[in-house]
Amino acid sequence: MLPESRRAVIPNSEGVAAAVACLRAGGLVGLPTETVYGLAALAADDQAVRRVFAVKGRPSDHPLIVHLAQIADASDWALQIPTYATRLASSLWPGPLTLILRKQDWVPNSLTGGQPTVAVRVPSHPVARAVISGAGPVAAPSANRFGRVSPTNVDAVAQELADALDERDLILDGGDCAVGVESTIVDCTESSPRILRAGFYGDDVIEQAAGVALDSTNLSETPRVPGSLAAHYAPQTRVTLLTPEGVNTLSVSRMSRAWLLTLASEPVSETQAKSAARRTRPEDATAFARLLYATLRAADAADVDEVIAIPPQGRGIAVAIRDRLQRAAAGSGVDAIT
Ligand code: TXA
Ligand code: MG
Repeated sequence: MLPESRRAVIPNSEGVAAAVACLRAGGLVGLPTETVYGLAALAADDQAVRRVFAVKGRPSDHPLIVHLAQIADASDWALQIPTYATRLASSLWPGPLTLILRKQDWVPNSLTGGQPTVAVRVPSHPVARAVISGAGPVAAPSANRFGRVSPTNVDAVAQELADALDERDLILDGGDCAVGVESTIVDCTESSPRILRAGFYGDDVIEQAAGVALDSTNLSETPRVPGSLAAHYAPQTRVTLLTPEGVNTLSVSRMSRAWLLTLASEPVSETQAKSAARRTRPEDATAFARLLYATLRAADAADVDEVIAIPPQGRGIAVAIRDRLQRAAAGSGVDAIT
């Protein structure tokens, strides 16, 4: 059990130094990033990395992202970095982008799930950067139990993991994550880049920054991306996805037991919206992404039967929101992912 005093450490210079010391001593750190909170271990510390899997309840063949302090560090981990990947890194790092590259021989299988590739990202969150600069590269999956909703604030991290952590570990309080959904993952191991997980950066931004056309064919053999399981990012509360017309035809009694999550601009009738037990109506897709996981989490704590969501239309981050909502709907209402 993580002691209370280590559950929301302020990331001033002392707090960052405590996190660096914790990582160096083999502990785990709940680390704010611009996307979601990560559960960080020193990437070079095999035992600490193994504990990350145990704490999350994550199968050991699901690889982790290595978080770096600077772009130049990618070549310590990767081989044969294609020109388009270098362009992606130099225009979108630091930021919510993960590149899958051929790994160097020394990179341990515990990080890569036995694959010949390694995932790397340079986060932009100042606290993450300070900790990584001080301690060295960290392996950090999202700081949630396997299959559950990623945490976007410090309370959510403690709620997910405080029971499984102990006095060796700590959680830094970096406030609410600015992006709210995980990084865009781009496979850079072939002649053209391919998006494996939708995120903050849409296909248009990735293609433009890469300077080459994206490979958008479907994979015949899906790589091991747990975020690609149909039922991932799932709350306990049932999630129902509807169009505005669909919401407008629901009975008042069903609405009165539901939490409505929709862009403010969707044509849901005002009477219908008001009949919902609770409402979250962000102004745009960016705000929707920022609120998404916190809303799903709050719904689990609230007395509502379901979350009724209208997925936002459009490209960019709206694609990531639709992806996460679909997975949340597929996996919701169950206690465990099998
Ligand atoms: O925004 C993010 O990416 C957050 C923050 C904390 O950085 N991290 C995150 O980590 O979402 P995680 O472990 O929850 O998801 C990482 C994804 C997984 O789906 C994993 O399978 C995939 O990256 N991945 C890691 N290494 C890979 C590899 N070599 N090939 C294919 N996918 C890989
Ligand atoms: Mg995750």
